[in-house]
Amino acid sequence: MKKLTRLVAVAACAALAIGLGACSSSRDSDSPGGDTTTAGDAPKTAEAYIGIAMPTKSLERWNNDGAYLEQQLTALGYKSTLQYADNKTDQQISQIQNMINDGVTVLVVASIDGTVLGPVLEQAANNDITVIAYDRLINATPNVDYYATFDNYMVGQLQGQYIEEALNLKTADGPFNLEPFAGSPDDNNAKFFFSGAWDVLKPYIDSGKLVVPSGKSPASNDQWQAIGIQGWTTATAQSEMQNRINSFYADKKVDAVLSPNDSLALGIEQALEGAGYQPDVDWPIVTGQDGDLANVKNILADKQAMTVWKDTRILADQVAKMVQEIVTGATVSVNNTTDYNNGIKNVPSYLLPLEVITKANVEERLVGTDFYSADQLGL
Ligand code: BGC
Repeated sequence: MKKLTRLVAVAACAALAIGLGACSSSRDSDSPGGDTTTAGDAPKTAEAYIGIAMPTKSLERWNNDGAYLEQQLTALGYKSTLQYADNKTDQQISQIQNMINDGVTVLVVASIDGTVLGPVLEQAANNDITVIAYDRLINATPNVDYYATFDNYMVGQLQGQYIEEALNLKTADGPFNLEPFAGSPDDNNAKFFFSGAWDVLKPYIDSGKLVVPSGKSPASNDQWQAIGIQGWTTATAQSEMQNRINSFYADKKVDAVLSPNDSLALGIEQALEGAGYQPDVDWPIVTGQDGDLANVKNILADKQAMTVWKDTRILADQVAKMVQEIVTGATVSVNNTTDYNNGIKNVPSYLLPLEVITKANVEERLVGTDFYSADQLGL
């Protein structure tokens, strides 16, 4: 009941905001009637105030995500606060706690570790705050209301299929040398990425067409954490790749590297470069995800074969739309209610589409849609 009353009050303000652009000013200066309350306990002039918790500024995509989302929310007339937690779970928890204390009405959370937010989200629920998990699902709590993301399993499928086609695995004899990597063990998305790719590649490992000289080849999808790179850091991926090359490739060449995202791919590419691999000579196929600037430049330089592009603008648009629906009491748009179970419930989700970017379509898709300027890419 409490939640409903409050949402209706917030909706009134949002409607005003859309019409008058007024909701970002404070309650007192805004309202001639002051803090009068409705029949329930929510103030009539309650503002929509959106808290956005992002994992880290150190990876390009989260900077883009945060900036676009804030822009969209501001355009809708909502006040927001955007905070980055330096990939530290304690910091993220205290940021969320502060947002709750400051009176946010909706929380948008891209978690660092999707398993540790239960207690703080219980506080959010006690304060009638609606929670949207952004990009990464939040597990083991009933207090996550919606999830907006790209199709995570499909990311891995596209990477696996790219390797399958580029090496012509269906018909070529092989064997080819593959080095697989996985994402951060505490990131719920990373298991989906790995499963999507492994479902394509594992049969070729079983048949001997693909071999993994380092032995870092999970026997099943749920053993992905054994090859996970903590915190998705470029430097760790680089030293892991250097170790594999130094220890297992004295008399062979790497043919393909399954990299789940661009930050890892960058480190892997630095290791390949250091080991003397050359584009157009013996450079292996390297996959990626996100479309980070440095990686797109590497695609143009033939050092990375592809990236699964997540246009952060469509995720921000979708989340801004969901926020508006929540605030105005409209039905919240979701397109998947079956696939994202967080251990407690199926979280109503909105899954967004992905695009494979290669050298052939960088210009059309990334420059043509103004994601990057031609200048930024040296085109
Ligand atoms: C995101 C990826 C990103 C990775 C590292 C994942 O949860 O879905 O897009 O590359 O985190 O930040």
